[in-house]
Amino acid sequence: MNYIEFRNITKSFGEFVACHDVSISIKKSEVHSIIGENGAGKSTLMKMLGGIEPATSGDIFLNQKVYKPNSAQDAFKNKIAFIHQHFVLAEQLTGLENILLSFSSGSFSLKIKNTSEVLAAANKILSRFNWKIELSKPVSQLSVGEQQRLEILKALLQEPEIIIFDEPTAVLTPQESEELMQFILQLKRENKTIILISHKLNEIKSVSDSISVLRLGRLIQSSPARELSIENMAELMIGRQVVKNTNFTRPTEREVLIKIPNSDISLFQSEIFGVAGIEGNGQSALIASLLKEMSDRQIKYGDITEDRIKLSVFENMNLWEHMLLKHKNEFLSKGLIFESRLRKVTEDLVKNWDVRPVDIDKPLSEFSGGNQQKFVVGRELWNHPDALLAAHPTRGVDLGAQENIHNSLLEFSKQKKTVVLVSSDLNEVLYLSDRFVILNKNKIYGPFNRGELNEQQIGLIMAADNNDGIRLAGQL
Ligand SMILES: Nc1ncnc2c1ncn2[C@@H]1O[C@H](COP(=O)(O)OP(=O)(O)OP(=O)(O)O)[C@@H](O)[C@H]1O
Ligand SMILES: [Mg+2]
Repeated sequence: MNYIEFRNITKSFGEFVACHDVSISIKKSEVHSIIGENGAGKSTLMKMLGGIEPATSGDIFLNQKVYKPNSAQDAFKNKIAFIHQHFVLAEQLTGLENILLSFSSGSFSLKIKNTSEVLAAANKILSRFNWKIELSKPVSQLSVGEQQRLEILKALLQEPEIIIFDEPTAVLTPQESEELMQFILQLKRENKTIILISHKLNEIKSVSDSISVLRLGRLIQSSPARELSIENMAELMIGRQVVKNTNFTRPTEREVLIKIPNSDISLFQSEIFGVAGIEGNGQSALIASLLKEMSDRQIKYGDITEDRIKLSVFENMNLWEHMLLKHKNEFLSKGLIFESRLRKVTEDLVKNWDVRPVDIDKPLSEFSGGNQQKFVVGRELWNHPDALLAAHPTRGVDLGAQENIHNSLLEFSKQKKTVVLVSSDLNEVLYLSDRFVILNKNKIYGPFNRGELNEQQIGLIMAADNNDGIRLAGQL
């Protein structure tokens, strides 16, 4: 019997149709995954279930009854929790205060009454998960990974029956992601119904009972997970096969660009220098010190920020305005904006980087997560800087776009440029980096050459309490 049913759901934003006549049935206690390229309509579809956006037409049924939420509160009342792709946390409040805030708006949390009970319940979930979040710290001081965990914690404390995870592992390490997948399976055994959105198809494969594929707002196929291989999924999403670049003739010129402050490590031109490690182990400090060093030495650099939403995407500003913001001197003279050139350049960038839709007057915040990222990457590389600081450059982007971004970094570095790649995705670091370091508790280990360490050895350095036996290159 169908527990949740989307029946002929269409959602338009003005002229633009984000979801087109989508019908999907979800059974109770299953893990149902929704996959599709950036902008396919996954988050939009879930926002209708989560009461955040009303459908333009069509119906949603919950337990065979028409369900028409008017707000997130309505969804809460129906025991639907939504863990968003982009965090909804109050920055200046502590983790605990954020949790309490969510309780005051929720309506089915009557079992828990006071702060100490909330804290106890929170700690119970955290220990079950083997997670650590410093709940007494302001959210602004938590790492992106910790913020994601806090979002999940907040949702689980509401004891929901239906849990929507919108790209929950985009910011988690491989180990954390694996733990989360185990946890999802545990929730399923407790009869919870899980809807999972992810670009990581191996994760999808490992936990899903059913998979629905969206492409350009339309449902392509909804089927039992066992009938689909990872290759099948990729092809259904994109409509073609994805080929990975394995041609690694790398440049060998070695001119020093800069040194990492407080260390004996030089960064060279023509190289991709990887920074591996679990988030929150000094990445922000390393990035800040490199940015300062480059500014001081007047090195032209691009900066793909760690936290896209907070640092790169501004409300109510469209694409060309975001372009202007970054490259002011190119388009601004004596208080005048060269608007037609700016528009033309932005339009070209959007086309080159396959940002969809091609609408440079649309606010960047209204693009899907992956399309925002594609735009930011393109913008940072646009003026041919000497160096690129790329923090999690493929976070939230789909397979095809990941390939594009990876190939761009490889190409860019070949032109005597330096890429510093900070990523918690170990595969990404190993795939792209000529050399890499590992961060653990604000210490830098390495640098290591491509192929010098295997994944297991790296994992040990990432997680160990005391790494003194290993090449220690600096302190952040
Ligand atoms: N509030 C909005 N106003 C206008 N257009 C929107 C709005 N929200 C979403 N869209 C558009 O709807 C389309 C689908 O967006 P959605 O966020 O659902 O994609 P997605 O499948 O979740 O992609 P991603 O994997 O990148 O997160 C996108 O083209 C997006 O630009
Ligand atoms: Mg999305």
